[in-house]
Amino acid sequence: VCRHRALPLDLGARSPMSDDGRFLLCHQHGALYRLDDGVCVVGPCAGERLSPVAVTEDDDGALELTARP
Ligand code: FES
Repeated sequence: VCRHRALPLDLGARSPMSDDGRFLLCHQHGALYRLDDGVCVVGPCAGERLSPVAVTEDDDGALELTARP
């Protein structure tokens, strides 16, 4: 969820990756987030950080994202 407004980065249907694969991209207003720490480096929420999630994969390959405290 973007730190600028509570919207999914992919707007529900697009890849959340920037074209060069170096950042997470919010398609609403173009915020770019670093992959390693989730800090927004370009956009209306520059300096803010994405909330971390834990990712687990079940035996069928389905991924589950869980908010971390
Ligand atoms: S909602 Fe993500 S940059 Fe504005």
